[in-house]
Amino acid sequence: MNLISISDLSREEILRLLDSADAFRARRGGHGAPLQGKSLAMIFEKPSTRTRVSLEVAASELGAHPLYLSAGELQLGRGETIADTARVLSRYVAGITARVYSHSTVEQLAAHASVPVINALSDWEHPLQILADLQTIRQRFSRLEGLKLAWIGDGNNVCHSLILAAAILGLEIVVASPPGYQPKPEVLEQARQLGGRPAVVVEPAEAARDADVLVTDTWVSMGDEGEEAERLRVFGRYQINSDLMSLASPCSIALHCLPAHRGQEITDEIMDGPQSAVFDEAENRLHTSKAVMAWLMGQGRED
Ligand code: CP
Ligand code: NVA
Repeated sequence: MNLISISDLSREEILRLLDSADAFRARRGGHGAPLQGKSLAMIFEKPSTRTRVSLEVAASELGAHPLYLSAGELQLGRGETIADTARVLSRYVAGITARVYSHSTVEQLAAHASVPVINALSDWEHPLQILADLQTIRQRFSRLEGLKLAWIGDGNNVCHSLILAAAILGLEIVVASPPGYQPKPEVLEQARQLGGRPAVVVEPAEAARDADVLVTDTWVSMGDEGEEAERLRVFGRYQINSDLMSLASPCSIALHCLPAHRGQEITDEIMDGPQSAVFDEAENRLHTSKAVMAWLMGQGRED
């Protein structure tokens, strides 16, 4: 079993992972070490603060040994194939996480590894992030059912995973993105196949109105740096600020996977204000990573 897309998980599996993450949060420092003696390979083609540190700490608190592997320092960077890398790592470790530019890289790793592969962000999805978002939402509202999610900004990798999770869990989601930067049609179609009804609009206010959860992310994702000037121009009004937040439900919260570009997609006032759940969300990356690793890596080899 791998976690390449959030859609690899059923509703029941997501809810079970969230329960497990809640238990890890409640028992931090007091839970056992179910992965004692195992190792986790962590391949990174891109920078990371939260994903790297949360996975590394999660692994060590579960008793496993985490190995940070910068892709450029592996033989992968000198032309060894992804398939051979996956085969070799599988002889050493009990799980592989990978943060990659192209989604096909993590798919190829999964196709050739004999241990679980976990997507730690690709250009298409960020499933680990969305598990932490869901844990945070449930923590704040004590439920997921009946909530309206609003995505404000780029229809990117994080947005894709949120759309798919909303479909799996039966949550309403409205995405506000500028034309040309909306979620990919394939993802919207996949969400509809999963029973979802994702709405895509252009106006941020239309998405935010009566929403319970406002979510945003950078206007310029890793890999999009060449388009920065154009993106800063196009995304100018796709910002979670107090005017936008005032349209949402009175108990609404703001989420951001971080890193934030304060003053661009989110203001200081919201980031540091009472409706912000962004630092709980960051913390929950640790608990949800533990839940995923304990589940996938605790099963032993899958040959
Ligand atoms: N949210 C997230 O994945 O952050 P990092 O890029 O710091 O890992
Ligand atoms: N969409 C962002 C998320 C960073 C955690 C990126 O891909 O750079």
